[in-house]
Amino acid sequence: MERCVRKELLDELPPQDSRALRSRGDLLRLNSWMGHPRIMAKALQEIFSRHLFFRIVELGAGDGEFLLRVARRLRGPWRGLDATLVDRVDLLTARTQAEFAEHNWRVEPAKGDVFQWLRGPKPEKVEVILANLFLHHFQEKELRTLFEEVADKAQTFIAVEPRRSRHGMFFSRLLWCIGCNSVTRHDAPLSVGAGFSGQELSALWPDHENWELTEQSAGLFSHLFIARRKRPIDSTLFQPIVRAVFNRTAANSEPAHAEPETASSPDALGKPAQERER
Ligand SMILES: C[S@@+](CC[C@H](N)C(=O)[O-])C[C@H]1O[C@@H](n2cnc3c(N)ncnc32)[C@H](O)[C@@H]1O
Repeated sequence: MERCVRKELLDELPPQDSRALRSRGDLLRLNSWMGHPRIMAKALQEIFSRHLFFRIVELGAGDGEFLLRVARRLRGPWRGLDATLVDRVDLLTARTQAEFAEHNWRVEPAKGDVFQWLRGPKPEKVEVILANLFLHHFQEKELRTLFEEVADKAQTFIAVEPRRSRHGMFFSRLLWCIGCNSVTRHDAPLSVGAGFSGQELSALWPDHENWELTEQSAGLFSHLFIARRKRPIDSTLFQPIVRAVFNRTAANSEPAHAEPETASSPDALGKPAQERER
């Protein structure tokens, strides 16, 4: 199945249009049916099992209800989070913000186009950028640009998107059965047709050397993409260990008249002495 991106009705309708409001309600149900809050929460929990405080950004966050469901699923030490919800329409209500606050999440909207937001001033250290049912709106060229900006701003990127598959397409045409409105019924097959399969998103990521990429199917109808910046090995951590091991080995086998160390003799890490003195 070839990927095909077409305009979705929900993006064209005014945010307060009654059909748009109803379709956003459908989206919330579909998110739950497809298990997206569970998939996202599991990915976050696995990656950040020991983190307590950090900043999350969600791209194309809509009314924030998706992220709120993720927040509800995260248990244990998940508190003190700052979340920025980027969307070209600001649909975050005071009620949703208050519900986030119950989980100790401080959430603020950032109204505007994601590309503009990503090109704007670099926010304080962002640990993770998320996207749910969002990337499929864009052509490959736009996704490349978006990924470049994301890779410049965050340590981790997680996206849950529709999987482009025949069975997904089949079920997307049956949404009338569960009472979805005309906007949702129009947009759902388009979303599946614009979804992803295989390693399509990984192929668009700008840096394969310094990032670890995971791309796989998730649940029955979804596609999960995770990009994690590889952590550089902290030599200050390993230096004392290497020294201890090296010195012990050297002490064991040191000849009676060892050569004095010269300016160019390398240490255990292979650095010449004059470099170490700098
Ligand atoms: C299908 S909805 C998903 C909303 C939310 N992530 C969820 O799962 O409920 C896509 C959202 O992306 C937003 N959007 C689409 N293109 C955008 C862009 N270029 N910049 C900012 N937001 C955009 C729309 O306004 C919409 O709220």
